[in-house]
Amino acid sequence: MDQAEGLRNLMDNSQKEQHEPLNPSPKKRKEDHAVRWPRVISVGSGKGGVGKTNVVANLAFAFTRLGRKVLVFDADLGLANIDVLLGLTPKYNIQHLLNREKGVFDILTPGPGGMAVLPASSGVLELVDLDESQKLFLLDELDLLAETVDILLIDTGAGISSNVLYFNLAAEESIVVVTPEPTSITDAYALIKVLASKYKKDGFTLLVNSARNAQEAKETFGKISRAVDRFLGGVSVDYLGFVPFDEKVPQAVRSQRPVLEAYPQALSSRSFMEMARELVERPPSPRTPGQVQFFWQHLFQCRQPAEQNGRGD
Ligand SMILES: Nc1ncnc2c1ncn2[C@@H]1O[C@H](COP(=O)(O)OP(=O)(O)OP(=O)(O)O)[C@@H](O)[C@H]1O
Ligand SMILES: [Mg+2]
Repeated sequence: MDQAEGLRNLMDNSQKEQHEPLNPSPKKRKEDHAVRWPRVISVGSGKGGVGKTNVVANLAFAFTRLGRKVLVFDADLGLANIDVLLGLTPKYNIQHLLNREKGVFDILTPGPGGMAVLPASSGVLELVDLDESQKLFLLDELDLLAETVDILLIDTGAGISSNVLYFNLAAEESIVVVTPEPTSITDAYALIKVLASKYKKDGFTLLVNSARNAQEAKETFGKISRAVDRFLGGVSVDYLGFVPFDEKVPQAVRSQRPVLEAYPQALSSRSFMEMARELVERPPSPRTPGQVQFFWQHLFQCRQPAEQNGRGD
């Protein structure tokens, strides 16, 4: 069995038996209008270094524990590093797909808990600038994943560069990671503001990382939510939860494992598990189809407004 076949099987069987009640069959999912998979969730931040990649790695791991088939896309194209955090050494990346050297199942790399990782490379900086035939080819290839994925989780990178904006716009749900530091708060607001005012994105989910306690996390959320209410009418910001500052997180990073896998009883691990449950139980946004192909189509269509508006500056 080659790696591609292994991944296909892996994604088809990912903890199905262990977690049957939380992992409805595709048929049941289609019948159940409240649950529409695959869901596309982006994880971004204004300021860098606030914990996005850890959030992606741990939420992805938590989703696998809940019986979901998870695909992680490392869209932090400049500083792609989720593979390092997860201790993976991908043989191929999306560039090989674009060069038509490999198919989508060949580039998927198996990660902890049965998640699959779609590795990026810094050579893919111009993903949104592909020509029409490349886009169609990529859409067809990625559409093959639609049936095997429950949740697509995207590490978008930090800031408000055009690539970050594209990925946050294309995803149906955007998690913005923020820490209680004033610089992180102002930069998170700046990201929300540019996505809302220039590109009309009107819903965001806030995750507060590295907070000392629940009160500090709520205060952090309150500062952003008040500014949004006051200056960005019609935009909603929900609170997902917080991850405490926890020494176990850097310890797990050093051993290149998600903290949830390395230290399941750590306070941060419990938070990640709770938030993953909350996301799984929360119905996805009714506004968007929530399909992998929709995500990519939307991603490519986003090129136009960004160019008209000065590429997101
Ligand atoms: N809850 C936490 N408690 C303690 N340390 C944390 C926590 N979350 C993240 N860290 C540490 O913060 C550092 C940055 O984390 P991470 O790489 O996930 O951030 P990032 O937002 O992805 O950064 P970048 O913007 O560079 O991609 C890591 O060394 C990590 O160990
Ligand atoms: Mg990162």
